[in-house]
Amino acid sequence: MTSAKPKIVVSGVQPTGTLHVGNYLGAVHNWLKIQDDPQYRCYFFIADWHSMTVEYDPKEKRQQIISMATDLLALGIDPEKVVLFQQSDILEHAELTWIFNTITPMSFLERMTQFKDKSRRHQENVNMGLFDYPVLQAADILLYHGQLVPVGIDQVQHVELTRDIAGFFNNRFGEFFPETKPLLTNIPKVRSLTEPTRKMSKSHGEKSCLLITDTFDEMYDKVKRVPTEATGIISMEEREVEEAIAALGDSEPDEKLKGMAGVWNLLGLIREFGSPEEVDRLVAGQPLKYGELKQLAATRVAEHFAVFQRARAELAQKPEHVERVLAHGAKQAREVAQATMAEVRQLVGLR
Ligand code: TRP
Repeated sequence: MTSAKPKIVVSGVQPTGTLHVGNYLGAVHNWLKIQDDPQYRCYFFIADWHSMTVEYDPKEKRQQIISMATDLLALGIDPEKVVLFQQSDILEHAELTWIFNTITPMSFLERMTQFKDKSRRHQENVNMGLFDYPVLQAADILLYHGQLVPVGIDQVQHVELTRDIAGFFNNRFGEFFPETKPLLTNIPKVRSLTEPTRKMSKSHGEKSCLLITDTFDEMYDKVKRVPTEATGIISMEEREVEEAIAALGDSEPDEKLKGMAGVWNLLGLIREFGSPEEVDRLVAGQPLKYGELKQLAATRVAEHFAVFQRARAELAQKPEHVERVLAHGAKQAREVAQATMAEVRQLVGLR
């Protein structure tokens, strides 16, 4: 009997400290679903080289890498099912980046939204790595012949660039890399608790994010501050809120939009970590009591991560186990990466 060849899935997460609920739903949540599906062969890694493109403390980086690996394992990423590794363990990522650098027009990188965004926000540190970030990402993916890349919408442009780079390479040196597609499995939007018209992000401060390691009390304390409007009546549908936010551009949202975005953010958390039916019931039973809504949102999120938190506490006692898992993953990844590079060196004429 022949079974279809599994599709190659590649994805990475930066080791930027503890995951928040938005990071979790944007990446790891989908990794967990895919890892059990025999249609896919998964390579998941900690993108430590990417994380160096913004200011960081070298004294903290190692800890952040191990902490991210611990989080991934405690969340249920299974190194028996997927190849889990640290990007910088595989030097071929850098080698392939260099080769891709020579075929990628600068104008393509100048167009990248994330680069424009980050170089505006970190004007004191617009380094070459930040500019080249998407090329490294293309190398991450194509080194393993990645066909599907589970990511959030903000990374789609980078996956499209990966496809462009594969095309340039194939045209110039002969058909070699596959076509890569983003895998956009319904990733719910999680908004900042403090500025709900923006996406949840650590850069908006501690109180704006729910960390997956937060206790119920910590979660509730942050959720309590979410701006809501006064009436308890949902005067804008979720889609209208999204459209209004999209139309804002750089201008400031008004109080009503902020309040409605805050309410839908709470409902969205309940939908993800409780159930859609629970949200339907709440919406049907307007006016909403925001005190209760906030308590419920914090409860559902805390319940969901309780199992993880217990697993994490146990794993944190065994950092050598986490190190061993990464070393094993690196061995598996390196084998594939070396085979790819052996061919690439020939194709480009170095060997
Ligand atoms: N840029 C991605 C992010 O910030 C992380 C990443 C690095 C990645 N390399 C990748 C994601 C390769 C998918 C595939 O979320």
